[in-house]
Amino acid sequence: MRVLVIGSGGREHALAWKIAQSPLLSKLFIAPGNGGTDAVAETIAMDITDHWAVIDFCKLNAIDFVVVGPDAQVVAGLGDDIRAAGVSCFCPSKAAGQLEGSKSFTKALCDEMDIPTACYGHFDTEAAALAYLYTQGAPIVIKADGLAAGKGVTVAMSVEEAEAAIIDCFSGAFGGAGASVVIEQFMEGEEVSLFVLCDGTNILPLTTAQDHKRAFDGDCGPNTGGMGAYSPAPVMTGEIYQQTLDRIIWPTVRGLAARGTPYQGVLYAGLMLTSDGPKLVEYNARFGDPETQVLVMRMQSDLLPLLHATATGTLAGHDVVWNDQFAITVVMATKGYPGPVVNGSEIRNAQTLDNGDLQVFHAGTRRDGDRLLAAGGRVLCVTALGQTLHEAQTFAYAGVDQIVWPEGFCRRDIGWREIERNGR
Ligand code: GLY
Repeated sequence: MRVLVIGSGGREHALAWKIAQSPLLSKLFIAPGNGGTDAVAETIAMDITDHWAVIDFCKLNAIDFVVVGPDAQVVAGLGDDIRAAGVSCFCPSKAAGQLEGSKSFTKALCDEMDIPTACYGHFDTEAAALAYLYTQGAPIVIKADGLAAGKGVTVAMSVEEAEAAIIDCFSGAFGGAGASVVIEQFMEGEEVSLFVLCDGTNILPLTTAQDHKRAFDGDCGPNTGGMGAYSPAPVMTGEIYQQTLDRIIWPTVRGLAARGTPYQGVLYAGLMLTSDGPKLVEYNARFGDPETQVLVMRMQSDLLPLLHATATGTLAGHDVVWNDQFAITVVMATKGYPGPVVNGSEIRNAQTLDNGDLQVFHAGTRRDGDRLLAAGGRVLCVTALGQTLHEAQTFAYAGVDQIVWPEGFCRRDIGWREIERNGR
């Protein structure tokens, strides 16, 4: 099979790394890729927002299957356009991708299918949103309805903070994504993610993970796209897992199928484990970043046929096997992230660390001859396996400590909550 992976982050490097191991693969391309993807795929400079450029590439290179990584491409309907051109593609339809592209779409589906989630209101004007806020008080959660590059959600601990977030949305801070807002009840509990493949009718649950959204140790500082993750997440017990499938995942899959917009792709369910059971925080319509980096390290099965079966409605009968280890990924970011960063600093020693239990997935990197340069906020994902979470953490930071990059930083406590809970 000739395969094209779309995207340039750590997630796409990890997907390509795993797909490259498939015996079904004859040739792997990645576009636009990054400074690390040459090791596993032919890296193609391409504007992936230009759907015709992607389709032309597929035709010229006899691509059998495309795997789309990023949310923006899902929401823009790249999958629909590729399929319309006759190429098989792992990417939900634009209609079903609204699970990620519109918070109010997902909340309405929850209402329709009785899926447990936070109470909410959806507003098209600042005045109506503020009026609702004053009836609710704080803490409260303000979400720009559309896709806002991970920046549209404010967990407001005071009414003043919530007011500011609402005014920001309606004053265009998130462009069209903030033209309406969802205001949600604040949920108490611990967050965990579950990844499930879905072919429109059948599901294949993958595994759990937890990420660390804040920039600094102790879960302090600004929100980021994710500074690290680990898998599995033992906080998700068998009972909670079953409740999640029965009350959240299956009703979502059945509800979308009944609407005539079946979901075919990976459902990334962000869940809050509350005293009333698991509740849906949000859906993403693609793999997580950096969660994918830990998933692929733990997956023993061949990922390629699973993605293909998801895309072609043939998931029934497929199974997935995981190793019995923990995986941790530590994100190394350019100083200043998640704010503006200066690109171009040199990273040394990152190239020579990879072995079976330690893998450095690249995100914002580029090559300049033999030199590896930073080219973005999140730059490297140092990912390790261990028999315990603590061991995986130790191996991951041993890798981090060999990388010479004065302009970078990382959190030193990825996995802390679980390690503290279990002592290992
Ligand atoms: N790790 C968060 C995300 O992928 O959206």
